[in-house]
Amino acid sequence: MDNITILGIESSCDDTSAAVIRNGELLSNVIANQDVHIAYGGVVPELASRAHQLNIVPTIHQAIKNASVSLSEIHAIAYTRGPGLMGSLLVGTSFAKGLALSLGVPLIDVNHLKAHVLVHFIHDNTPNFKPPTFPFLCLLVSGGNSQIVLVKSYSEMEIIGQTIDDAAGEAFDKCAKILGGPYPGGPFVDVMAQQGDAYAFNLNKPRIGGYQYSFSGLKTSFLYLVRDEMKKNPAFIEQRKTDLCASFQRTVVEILMEKLLKASQDYHISTIALAGGVSANSALRKAVENYAHIYNWTTFVPKLAFTTDNAAMVAITGMYKFKAGEYSDISLTPFAKTLV
Ligand code: KG4
Repeated sequence: MDNITILGIESSCDDTSAAVIRNGELLSNVIANQDVHIAYGGVVPELASRAHQLNIVPTIHQAIKNASVSLSEIHAIAYTRGPGLMGSLLVGTSFAKGLALSLGVPLIDVNHLKAHVLVHFIHDNTPNFKPPTFPFLCLLVSGGNSQIVLVKSYSEMEIIGQTIDDAAGEAFDKCAKILGGPYPGGPFVDVMAQQGDAYAFNLNKPRIGGYQYSFSGLKTSFLYLVRDEMKKNPAFIEQRKTDLCASFQRTVVEILMEKLLKASQDYHISTIALAGGVSANSALRKAVENYAHIYNWTTFVPKLAFTTDNAAMVAITGMYKFKAGEYSDISLTPFAKTLV
């Protein structure tokens, strides 16, 4: 079939997004953020579902318009089935089902985590665009996940390591919260860290085997350090904020990179990709490029626009599933937790 055109819909958390991809080329990617959560210091599921209901029609309308396609040119509707917040997922799922039925086109369910990984296959007018070759390793780090994924093909992915407690993004958010920063905390810590001394403070690193991650000990050690120092000097946070952020960020990046290096060496794979919200972190991006020089890695670091939740990654995943004839039944229900 020529000109395979897929509409992707993403509504797993607090971003409503729609995108159109034609033959792997991105025609549009519209994201409606939800500012309503800022005041609460985290995503409020009930408010997220309501905001998706408000945003979904205009977002899809805009994506179709920006792509300059008509609904009759869409070959399939790809949507995020999970993991995510159930109420949020239900909005995208129900809309996708209704649209697919009314257009008489296949419905394609997409795993949100696999979609993050396949972001590296989106053609978006980057000169000399070259996607990764299989197999490759992807460090998938977000607010809800920290995983090392062995990517064998567009559909076959094996999680070889993951966090046993908090995700890296959660750790960044917690660090910012302890320092009185905003939510989400990752971008705040990143900006602060750029002005600080990354070796000012020594924080606990987990002693955990294999390719597993753990960030709860680091979080606690950071909390205790700040609490103890604040007892001695109530201006401690104000005076040392940048050093605290830089030291925390360095420790997270070291933890992430140590296991990624181990996986690369054990599996003899030197094609390495980053994905997920935390892959926007400037120190992590730099570390991956440094390792590329030292260990002769071929690296794939996503554009900032593709680090956060977006429907372009859902549409590209949908395109590969469409080509493989992997359609979904209309009765399929969303799932909140990872289904592997
Ligand atoms: O993938 P994502 O957009 O969605 C969820 O999994 O919810 O990831 C969001 C996470 C948040 O924890 C946020 O603090 C983190 O990604 N994040 C960052 C940066 N930008 C976003 N963490 C560190 N440095 C950043 N620059």
